[in-house]
Amino acid sequence: MSISFTGQVVWITGASSGIGEALAYAFSTAGARVILSSRRADELERVRRDCAHPEQVRVLPLDLLDIPSLTAKTAEAISYFGQIDRVIHNGGVSQRGLVKDTSLEVQRRVMELDYFSYVALTQAVLPHFMERKAGHFAVMSSVMGKIGTPMRSAYAAAKHALHGFFDCLRAEVAPMNIGVTILTPGYIRTNIAVHAVTADGSPMGRSSANIEGGLPADQAAKQILRALAKGKFEAYIGKMGGERMGLLLSRFAPGVLTRMVVKMAPK
Ligand SMILES: NC(=O)c1ccc[n+]([C@@H]2O[C@H](COP(=O)([O-])OP(=O)(O)OC[C@H]3O[C@@H](n4cnc5c(N)ncnc54)[C@H](OP(=O)(O)O)[C@@H]3O)[C@@H](O)[C@H]2O)c1
Repeated sequence: MSISFTGQVVWITGASSGIGEALAYAFSTAGARVILSSRRADELERVRRDCAHPEQVRVLPLDLLDIPSLTAKTAEAISYFGQIDRVIHNGGVSQRGLVKDTSLEVQRRVMELDYFSYVALTQAVLPHFMERKAGHFAVMSSVMGKIGTPMRSAYAAAKHALHGFFDCLRAEVAPMNIGVTILTPGYIRTNIAVHAVTADGSPMGRSSANIEGGLPADQAAKQILRALAKGKFEAYIGKMGGERMGLLLSRFAPGVLTRMVVKMAPK
């Protein structure tokens, strides 16, 4: 059965590639009016043109690291269709590097983009949701938001922080008819590894076997729309592989998982 988001206004960050791009197509096909944000205006325009209903799609370039700009960007987003029904917090960067090699500056940069920009954008949109007594935040965490493996300290820390913040927010705003869904994808086939920052802050520049073997982004988008339509609090997105097993072990047998993860350390 096809899912309908007819008439809803959905603001997607990180919409120029990967999961965000696939979500733009899926929401447009499902009848939503869509606002696309990321830094690269030309890529957002390409995505807009490829949507099922480009006339119902707006492009709003922004840099999530420019935190002071996010209040004005939110006002601009609201002005396009007069309202926002859903924010999909998705833009971000991954990271590869051992703790001993990764500079504090890189640790902070990942936290600023993958955690604080989500906090800032949420605080900018929240008054609008509260005034309307309706709204929904979808938050792109990761399996790394629930467990920690070698080479991912900054990324896992930022994603774990999202769970703390958005679980608290959910509890505060549920009485106002405002919802929160935290998504914890496993490996999804995108450019995430190519763009990942390394210990010195430079991009990794190549993909990885795990990512290339991951779920295609369009299938991830379908799973995400299903989870949102069901109003889930939290949802795993991806193949039924090792990442799913990791999540289950973290919940039901954390000691077993920790012993397995310790063996993953680079020699
Ligand atoms: N792929 C996976 O296996 C996987 C697994 C778990 C979670 N995730 C999460 O899924 C989300 C999307 O990642 P993806 O896999 O689709 O990777 P991606 O293809 O690299 O997409 C990242 C998106 O973030 C945007 N972005 C990066 N820096 C930004 C900034 N400073 N301001 C605004 N936008 C910015 C990029 O657009 P511009 O370059 O145009 O700004 C791009 O649209 C991320 O939060 C990631 O952590 C991915």
